[in-house]
Amino acid sequence: MTAKARLAALAVHVEAALAGCLRGKDIPGGLLAAMQYSLDAGGKRLRPGLCLAFADLHGGAREAAMPFACALELIHTYSLIHDDLPAMDDDDLRRGKPSNHKVFGEAAAILAGDGLLTEAFGLMAGAPGVSDAARLAAIAEIAGAAGAAGMVGGQALDMAYTGASGVTLDNLRDMHARKTGALITAACVSGALVAAAGARGVEKAGEYGREIGVAFQIVDDILDVTGDAASLGKPVGSDQDKGKNTYPSLLGLAQSAALARDCAARAKAVLDGFSGESADFLRELADYIVDRVH
Ligand code: IPE
Ligand code: IPE
Ligand code: MG
Ligand code: MG
Ligand code: MG
Repeated sequence: MTAKARLAALAVHVEAALAGCLRGKDIPGGLLAAMQYSLDAGGKRLRPGLCLAFADLHGGAREAAMPFACALELIHTYSLIHDDLPAMDDDDLRRGKPSNHKVFGEAAAILAGDGLLTEAFGLMAGAPGVSDAARLAAIAEIAGAAGAAGMVGGQALDMAYTGASGVTLDNLRDMHARKTGALITAACVSGALVAAAGARGVEKAGEYGREIGVAFQIVDDILDVTGDAASLGKPVGSDQDKGKNTYPSLLGLAQSAALARDCAARAKAVLDGFSGESADFLRELADYIVDRVH
């Protein structure tokens, strides 16, 4: 099975679990509709897939990892809703559908994001089948990654660099590591933590995640130039329109792709010594992240 097919197979399980995440909660109907709209719109479900794969790599049960996998997707989905807002990237298409604020309005979109982010932490807090220590460690990891020193900080840097001159490659790498790499890293690390992987396994999950996380955003920037909106499900040319500083704008497409490939090679090297289906999947996934077209 290719990495893409295996990720899609994992996504089926993730989507079944996601369907239950908000069920039965006393959420006002309009807010629930806005939250559910973006959550149900699809997407690659990469972060949950990574969490489940790292749990499996270390012998953890899928059911124990699933609440964390779902929480990562709730957080990621919130970040996309807010990322598309007029005050941020002002994009009208997401996951092949009109962006959340285009359907529900800006106030509802902001609140839908707030709701998804906060529900994610409730979901993890109540996760069964995992020790209190592992649950707490995974929650702390994901909170740090999503928070002000991680994804939110990266988004703040993205906005600060928009239209700015003098942004360096180090600045870009730091921004990518935060805005996208941090949550992807936390997906890998939380999977390892839930499976009680031990310090070395957790450290390796982090090393792998940091490499593919940066590669993932470099390729996202490349696809904004070379991709097409129909297969991406989001606008192309948006970065240039908004004056974003990206790898392609600083280095050109070929050098950007080469750097993404270097990241993937380092990520695969981290997995040397691991065998089995999930290890093979994670190695192939590193290449898929670079070669993907959406
Ligand atoms: C897009 O993420 C935003 C970034 C962090 C680069 P994905 O490319 O994972 O989006 P979906 O989840 O598949 O829609
Ligand atoms: C988004 O980066 C990062 C987060 C949502 C945290 P982009 O702004 O490049 O993502 P897309 O291209 O809109 O998906
Ligand atoms: Mg953005
Ligand atoms: Mg964007
Ligand atoms: Mg982008």
